Order: sequence, then structure tokens, then C-alpha cells
Amino acid sequence: MKHLYSIFPIFLFLILFGCKTSKTNSNAEKVILTTAQKQYDILVQSSHINLSKKNNIPRTIKNEKTIFVSPYDWTSGFFPGSLWYLHDLTDNEKWKIRAIEYTEALDTIQYWKGNHDVGFIIECSYGNALKNTNSKYYENVIVQTAKSLSTRFHPKAGIIQSWNSGEKWNCPVIIDNMMNLELLFHASKISKDSTYYNIAVSHADTTLKNHFRPDNSSFHVLNYDTKTGKILDQNTHQGFEDGSAWARGQAWGLYGFTVTYRETKDPKYLQQAIKIANFIMTHPQLPADKIPYWDYDAPKTDKTPRDVSAAAITASALYELSIFISKKEKKKYLNWADAIMKSLKSPIYLAEAGKNNGFLLYHSVGSLPHKSEIDVPLNYADYYFLEALSRSEKLK
Ligand code: GLY
Repeated sequence: MKHLYSIFPIFLFLILFGCKTSKTNSNAEKVILTTAQKQYDILVQSSHINLSKKNNIPRTIKNEKTIFVSPYDWTSGFFPGSLWYLHDLTDNEKWKIRAIEYTEALDTIQYWKGNHDVGFIIECSYGNALKNTNSKYYENVIVQTAKSLSTRFHPKAGIIQSWNSGEKWNCPVIIDNMMNLELLFHASKISKDSTYYNIAVSHADTTLKNHFRPDNSSFHVLNYDTKTGKILDQNTHQGFEDGSAWARGQAWGLYGFTVTYRETKDPKYLQQAIKIANFIMTHPQLPADKIPYWDYDAPKTDKTPRDVSAAAITASALYELSIFISKKEKKKYLNWADAIMKSLKSPIYLAEAGKNNGFLLYHSVGSLPHKSEIDVPLNYADYYFLEALSRSEKLK
């Protein structure tokens, strides 16, 4: 009986997030979804003419023009993923047809060993596809991608290398890499090969040990000696400074440890997710509307940009986290996620139909230190917003 209680949240997750459900959208949600569909019609139209070209996936806007990227860009899985969520939220077959088209355009990524981002790319596209189809071929893509990603694992250090060695770093591992573990867990389930599961657990354990500071914020980049596992440097790449809390990094950590708890049921990952959530939720620099500035520690003025992508990832993660929390605490996380979503649905952040070149959300930041993508729409902000919308609908 005790055992049944301990696995109940897994069933609940599968029922809520893993299966297709009938549509019960509230009126307010219907309005949002009508706008979202009009926006994604625009994006599909604008990219469709490019489908035969290499760069066909809408990522952001620069100088008022939509920027399209190739399947090898780390964000390429989010557009097909958003199309899958539109299908999930509306039951409209049109989105499924488009989702399949853009998912299958990422076919070659399964063999790519050049970057850790294959987990993001393939799980958001093919991973979501498998919630809607029983394709053996899609399953094979997940397993082949896990094989490719596993070549970046360094057993002595216990981590998956994020980017390739360069002048600055020998073996950089970024907190974002926690997001690639879901694909490894998925591949183990499909293939019944525990290798991928064990690599994911090793990476999570090493990240838990090394990436976090006493206040439960995380470094962005750790540079490892792969032979000894020694940490050579603690740096940032996209944050304000090495010791600061880059907003999206904190969101990746929260989401990644929540998934790792879902897949392993090891309470230490749940505790870490809760610690990160509490860091975010109690941060004195978090604005009242709960949409963080791009870095929690960056000096603040009226012009300091917010990062909507960090907020959307956090909302989606908190919806999932709330499932695993005791009844007493659950409300706190659910209410917080709802409050983020309320802000994101306001006209400050959510574009009117026909605006924003078809993207849903304004005001994200890609990399401020590189002067890249500051205060723009980003396809991954849209993706996690739609995922959060879907999760909140199912929870209700
Ligand atoms: N994973 C890259 C980023 O969050 O910008």
C-alpha cells in the first residue's frame, strides 16, 4: 500500500501531462488560443516558403525581420514543439500535420555529436510527437539521439560535456544541460537500456554537487578536468558576472531537477527543485508581476530588460513540481505559476493577433553580454508558455 502511495504521483503525471485529454478550455483560455493560432498561422506561413531551404525555423526578430534558423541551432526543436502543444490545446488536426512536418525536418540531428543541445532539440520535437503518435521510427530517433548525446559523457568527471573544448574552457558544463536529461530517461524507457538512465543520474548528481552556491542559485558554466573531475573554473557566459544568478539558468535548473525527480523518484532531486523554486520566489529583486529581470544580480534601472523566457520556463516547471508536493505546500507553487501566467497573458507581454511577426510573447533576452537578442520574442519563450498553458488546463 505504501508503495502505491509512492508511485501515485507518476500515474498522476502520466494522466495529466502524458496523455491526450478532451478539451475543457475556459473562455479566457479560448481567447488566448484563438490569438495563438492566428499568430502561429503567420509564423508557419512565413517559414513555409523556406521549408526547402536550410534555415526554416522561426527563432526571433531582428530589425523587424523574422530570423529563421537551421535544424542545428539549439532552438530548432521549440517551433515543432509549440505546434504539438497547439494541437494538444485545440485538437485541431491542422497543427498536427504542421508539427509532423517541422519535427521530421530535424531528422539528421539524431546523429549529431557536436553539442549537448540535441536533447533540447529532439525531446521538444520527437518527444512531444510520441505523446500523439505510436511511431516506431520516432522512438528510434529518440534512442539514436541518446546514443549521440552519450558520446559526450565523461565517466571520470561524471558529466555530459556541453560545448566543445576551446580557448577558454577545457570541458564546459552549463546548468542548461539539465534540460537534456529528459531525452536520456525517455530513451532508456524505449530501449530498456539503462545506460542512458545511468548517465542522466550521474550528470544530475554531479550538477547537484558542484553547480550550486549556498543560497541555492547556480553558476552558469563550470569548467571540468575530465580526467580527475576537478573544477577548473566557475564562470558565466550569458549572465551578469561569474557569481551572479542568470535568470534563465535558474529556470533551467528548476525544470531539470523537477524532471529528474519525476523520472527517478529520488527525493534529493525534489529537494533541489524546491530549493531553486524558493530562491526564485523569495528573491528581493523579483518584480511584483513575477517576470524576472534577465539576471537577478544585474544592477536595476527602469531600462533593465526582463526575461520572459525565464518566467515561462519557471511557470511550466512549477505546474509539474506542484504535483509532487504535499497538499499543504502545493497551493503555493500552483498559485505562483498561475500568477506568472496571468502576467504573461496581459497585453504587456502577450502580442495581439497580427503583431510581433507571429510570435506570442514579447520581452525575452537571449544573451545580454553578447548584445544579442535583447528584449525580443524567442521561440522557446512561446514553447514553455504553451506547455504551461497545457499543463495548467490539465491540472484544472
Ligand atoms: N541554452 C541556451 C540558453 O538558454 O540561452
